[in-house]
Amino acid sequence: MELLVLPVVVLLASCALSLDNGLMRTPPMGWLAWERFRCNIDCATDPKNCISERLFMDMADRLAEDGWKELGYQYVNIDDCWAAKERDSQGQLVADPHRFPSGIKALAQYVHSKGLKLGIYADLGKFTCGGYPGTTLDEVDLDARTFASWGVDMLKLDGCYSNSSVKAVGYPLMSKALNATGRPIAFSCSWPAYEGGLPPQVNYTLLGEICNLWRNYADINDSWESVRGIINWYGEHQDVLQPAAGPGRWNDPDMLIIGNFGLSKEQSKTQMALWAILAAPLFMSNDLRTISRSDAYILQNKLLIKISQDPLGIQGRMILKGKNGIQVWMRVLSSSTMAFAFFSQRTDMPYHYTTSLAQLNVTAPKVFSAQDVYSGLALHGLEFDTKFTVTINPSGVVMLYVYPGEQLKLNRKPKAYPLLL
Ligand code: GLA
Repeated sequence: MELLVLPVVVLLASCALSLDNGLMRTPPMGWLAWERFRCNIDCATDPKNCISERLFMDMADRLAEDGWKELGYQYVNIDDCWAAKERDSQGQLVADPHRFPSGIKALAQYVHSKGLKLGIYADLGKFTCGGYPGTTLDEVDLDARTFASWGVDMLKLDGCYSNSSVKAVGYPLMSKALNATGRPIAFSCSWPAYEGGLPPQVNYTLLGEICNLWRNYADINDSWESVRGIINWYGEHQDVLQPAAGPGRWNDPDMLIIGNFGLSKEQSKTQMALWAILAAPLFMSNDLRTISRSDAYILQNKLLIKISQDPLGIQGRMILKGKNGIQVWMRVLSSSTMAFAFFSQRTDMPYHYTTSLAQLNVTAPKVFSAQDVYSGLALHGLEFDTKFTVTINPSGVVMLYVYPGEQLKLNRKPKAYPLLL
C-alpha cells in the first residue's frame, strides 16, 4: 500500500513546485531599461531619460509603432529604481509618486492598450541592488499578489542583499506565489548569477521547473569586452548550460546593447547572431526613440529572429574553436535546418575561412542550400564535401542559415570555392 501511495505524493509535490505557466515557449523578446538608463532618477534635469512612466510609455509607443511588436518584441520591462523608498502603510510596494504619478497599474493598462506586456523588477533581499525596498521571505506572497493586481506580465527577481539560503527558499517560493495569483506572470530569476552560474551551487533542473529564464553570469555593460567575455563564458560552460535550456526555460546572457555606444557595427552583428544561436532572451536595452536605422536593421533581421524563435528551442553550441581566433557556433533548428555563426576574435583583418559541411559534422541529407543571414546572399547545391569560404571581419560574424536543398532543382554545381561575402 505504501509503495502505491508514494509516487502520487512525489508527483503532487513536484506539481506544486513547478512554474506551470505555459509562457515563453520561445525565447522572450522585448525591451528592458537597465543597461541604457540605469538608476537615473534625476527627472528635474533629465526628464526624457530618467526612470519614469514617461520613459516606459515612450518605449511602448516605439515598440508598437516602429515595427518591433510585429517581429515579436512585446515586453516593456521596468528594472530597478522604480519604487518609492518606503513601502506604504499596508506594507505594499509602491511606485515613486513623482516619477510614476499614475502608478504601475495605469502604466500596465497603457502598455496593454498597445498590444504589449509589462515587466517589473524586484529583489529577493532587504534592498534592491540600487537600494530600494527589497522583498524579504515574508513579503514574497504579498508582492506577487501586488504585481498580479497591477496587471504585470513578467517579474525579474534580483538577488542583492540576501544570502544563498534565503535564495534557496525564496526563488521557489516566489515561483509558487506567482502561480497562485492565477495571472500568467513570466519569472526571470537572477539566482544562478549570484551562485557562480555552475553546479554544484546551481541546480539547473530545479531552475527549469521554477523559472522561465535566468541570468547565469555577470552584468553586461556597454563595451565589446563585456559582450566578448559573456560569449566566451557561455562557450566554456556549454556542457552544463546548453541542456538546461528549452521551451519555457532559457539561459539569459543579459540584454542586447545594440544601438548604444560601445559596439561597432561588426560587434553589434556578432551580439545579435550569438544571442540567436544561444536561444537567448532578446531584451534590448537601448533608446528606441533615437536608434539609427542600421542598428534597428540588425535587431529587426527577420531571418535572425526566425532562428532565435525556432520552435524546438534547442540552444546552440560552439562546435569548433581554432587557434586562428575563429569560433564556429551551430544551432540545430526545426525541419532539418540549422544555423552557423562563424565568429572572429581576431584583431588584424578580414579572415577567409574555408570549410565544408563535412568538416562541420553535417551529414544528411546530401544537398543543402545556405543563406547569409546579414547579406542575404544564397549558396545552392552544397554537398557534403563542397568547400566554401566565408570572410569574417575582426570581432565580426558570418551567420548562415542552412536548409536541405531540393535535389531536383540542382542541375548546376556550385563553384569549387564560392566566396560568400
Ligand atoms: C543587478 C542586475 C542588473 C540590474 C541591477 C539593478 O546588478 O544584475 O541586471 O537589474 O542589479 O540595480
